[in-house]
Amino acid sequence: MDVGIQNQDIDFIYLILIAQLVLFGSQTIVGFIQSWILLFMGTRINVALVTDFLIKIMRLPLGFFDSKTAGDLMQRIGDQRRIETFLTTSTLQIGFAFINLVIFSVVLLWYNTLLFAIFTVSSVLYLGWVVLFLRKRKEIDYLAFQQMSENQSSLIELIQGMQEIKLQGSEKKRRWQWAHIQARLFRINLRSLLITQYQDAGANVINQIKNILISFVAAKAVIDGNMTLGMMMAAQYIVGQLNGPLQQMIQFVRAWQDARISLERLGEINEIEDEETGHALPTIPEGSDIVLENVCFRYNPLNDDVLKDINLVIPRGKVTAIVGTSGSGKTSLVKLLLGFYKPQKGNIRIGGIHLNDIQKRLWREQCGAVMQDGFIFSDTIANNIAESSEQVEGSEPPEIGQGRQYPGIYRVVAAGIQYYDRSKGERHQPGATATDPDRQSRLQKPFVYFPGRSNQRP
Ligand SMILES: Nc1ncnc2c1ncn2[C@@H]1O[C@H](COP(=O)(O)OP(=O)(O)OP(=O)(O)O)[C@@H](O)[C@H]1O
Ligand SMILES: [Mg+2]
Repeated sequence: MDVGIQNQDIDFIYLILIAQLVLFGSQTIVGFIQSWILLFMGTRINVALVTDFLIKIMRLPLGFFDSKTAGDLMQRIGDQRRIETFLTTSTLQIGFAFINLVIFSVVLLWYNTLLFAIFTVSSVLYLGWVVLFLRKRKEIDYLAFQQMSENQSSLIELIQGMQEIKLQGSEKKRRWQWAHIQARLFRINLRSLLITQYQDAGANVINQIKNILISFVAAKAVIDGNMTLGMMMAAQYIVGQLNGPLQQMIQFVRAWQDARISLERLGEINEIEDEETGHALPTIPEGSDIVLENVCFRYNPLNDDVLKDINLVIPRGKVTAIVGTSGSGKTSLVKLLLGFYKPQKGNIRIGGIHLNDIQKRLWREQCGAVMQDGFIFSDTIANNIAESSEQVEGSEPPEIGQGRQYPGIYRVVAAGIQYYDRSKGERHQPGATATDPDRQSRLQKPFVYFPGRSNQRP
């Protein structure tokens, strides 16, 4: 521009303007493309990570879900975002930052060794200072994770338990419980902020001392005649250019730590043993009775036995009714028979083979069960009835047609189809009309049929 104005050359100024426009345009386009690439990569990574996580938790025994809250699992799924961010944004940035750092460092070294030495030493100090706080940061991250899980759980319970909250008039109590969690979260966030500020303050001091020192050394070199004024300006500019990548390095260290913590938390889940052991038999002995020997069971090691020394033969081809007072353990017994839990003592055998040694999936395929605490998905009644069908959406699942073979449940299935026909296209809200007959109509091909609680509630 200066040249153009001095020479009164408007064409030269046009040229500069066009060059600027082209530069701006190409920068914008590169930015756009970069965002697209990030979105594509991010989605892929995220879907892959969450899929693996879902596959893993679906393999875990039911006892795992008694010990973990929904909030904890939701929070862990949310955690994957940090891994994704690290893998996409941070690694890309650090690549560019590293290239810049190397190029400008070499230039600085070529200009002045002393300046380069000052820069290197202070940068190492700077990084060291930040690394010093990583342990504390991790501690706080774990605390925050716990509180955020509680926060999620509290919200989920608040929404799912609305009927109970209204019935008991505990709106205020539950709201306050949520507010207390927010207060604890706030305190943790405060500690986290404080750590970040300590880190930043220390880093800034180191950085400023470095900048001042470099200015001083450069100025002195000019006075001593070892450097021209232009060289000093250039050296200052280079140091300025080096600061950006250095900041990005710090950000990278933090993102790396976050991702590592998240991976660690995922690892905790991955280490838990699957429900299905590798050497389970792929067959069920035909025509055998189910025999229980001295079965003892408790949900929690700290609690009392729910079932104590149960000896029982459930003969093949006959109807066996298990009767007992409320809380006597009928549902627990059925859950053991379904392989959801393992007895702590004693055995359950089918034709001499331990239930544990039979593939759970295969066994459950042969069990028709309607649980007391069954779950209605937000889907049509028909799809809820045929939950075990592979068919996902669309026309009547084949199981419904097959269901007509079972005289005992035909009536209920027919009722389900009627409902389905009437409400075609509508989504059925869980709980809205989910009465007991709906639940009882969930269809499987039973080897053993556990009708749950078919009588009316007392
Ligand atoms: N997931 C669980 N964790 C801990 N304890 C449990 C769990 N489920 C049930 N229990 C306890 O186990 C005992 C037996 O419960 P269970 O539901 O098996 O009884 P039930 O005979 O089916 O009762 P009902 O007739 O009311 O259905 C009860 O004391 C109950 O509190
Ligand atoms: Mg029960």
